[in-house]
Amino acid sequence: MLKTLLVTGGCGFIGSNFVRFALNHHLAENLVNLDKLTYAGNLANLADVASDPRYRFVKGDITDTALVRGLFEETQPDAIVHFAAESHVDRSIVGPGDFVQTNIVGTFTLLEAARAAWGKETAQRRFLHVSTDEVYGSLGETGRFTEETAYAPRSPYSASKAASDHLAAASFHTYGLPVLITNCSNNYGPFQFPEKLMPLIINNALHGKDLPVYGDGRNVRDWLYVEDHCRALRTVLEKGIPGQTYNIGGNNEQANIDIVTSICNLLDELAGPLPSGAPRTSLIRFVTDRPGHDRRYAIDATKIRRELGWEPQTTFREGLRRTVAWYLKHDGWLQAVLDGSYRDYYQSMYGERLS
Ligand code: NAD
Ligand code: DAU
Repeated sequence: MLKTLLVTGGCGFIGSNFVRFALNHHLAENLVNLDKLTYAGNLANLADVASDPRYRFVKGDITDTALVRGLFEETQPDAIVHFAAESHVDRSIVGPGDFVQTNIVGTFTLLEAARAAWGKETAQRRFLHVSTDEVYGSLGETGRFTEETAYAPRSPYSASKAASDHLAAASFHTYGLPVLITNCSNNYGPFQFPEKLMPLIINNALHGKDLPVYGDGRNVRDWLYVEDHCRALRTVLEKGIPGQTYNIGGNNEQANIDIVTSICNLLDELAGPLPSGAPRTSLIRFVTDRPGHDRRYAIDATKIRRELGWEPQTTFREGLRRTVAWYLKHDGWLQAVLDGSYRDYYQSMYGERLS
């Protein structure tokens, strides 16, 4: 068991699922969560574990060198799992500056703080940098991303994540920092911010609003249930070899339009029909495409399965049903999130206000 685990971005979607997972599975004696609480960070995501004596929340920015260095000195973490990032592609198109700051400068700040704190005593230390399959660019009809696929990021978001991956890898090669990099496909599940496809569609479909599908709706993503991602990260933390990259994926390719249709059908079943009696698929609207929209992502997760023994456990059918049911049960969480600045952002993206 680790003595102290430092998590960054633990109040976001995957981070909060991971913090809960880490506490439930006793990964560490102490867990420190450093999060700036941007629009995407929500303390409510961890309300159920906030009073756990092993858990400590620190509000702060990963680009703040003094704060980050001070935290390393004070807490002496054996391991860091680094989630904190600006994570939404559409936002990166509208305003890339924050992505450069947090994803590149912030990651660099953490790497340097770890190097200063750990020095040459790195045998028992781990820096797990959580990254994305988007760094590999866009696939055609065939093929899958392996750890050897050349980087070809195409959005400001993926370019900033690619840069952070290179800085992390360079810290291993140049200084011997015990860095592990994971590149994961699209996650779904509880606590995802409703700017991303699944929660946005669930919320709109539930309330009888239009369902915006970009382009022809045939873009493909490889979906992984967030709990499976958390298990993969634990596996890499415990068994991964420093300096290595591990691709993580759901082996589950879905076209966007099929996902939207499945969510509509599930909601018709679980929440009852719309007041008009029309099926929720009648709300689907094909809208202007995302600029530079990557066509297809697919992960080849052979390496992590073969070398570390991880594979996903949740079928898409089961994961999607669980996710839709979670949002139905947590409408209070959803509405509180929608209360904030997300409304203005939503209006600038879709030209309408959320009611
Ligand atoms: P998210 O946007 O839901 O959460 C990001 C968290 O980081 C928030 O709590 C936010 O407050 C915090 N944060 C942002 N800037 C910060 C800063 N400067 N200092 C401190 N904290 C800051 O993101 P997510 O979807 O949970 O993604 C987490 C990580 O996983 C990201 O690095 C992302 O690139 C990666 N990833 C995400 C997916 C996915 O499908 N969501 C897939 C693969 C990889
Ligand atoms: O692949 C991993 C990446 O997955 C992560 O690195 C990112 O942090 C995460 O946001 C996600 O990126 P995507 O761009 O794939 O996710 P998003 O939910 O924004 O979109 C999924 C697909 O749905 C994509 O093809 C765009 C489309 N889409 C999205 C929205 C928000 C729509 O058709 N309509 C929408 O309103």
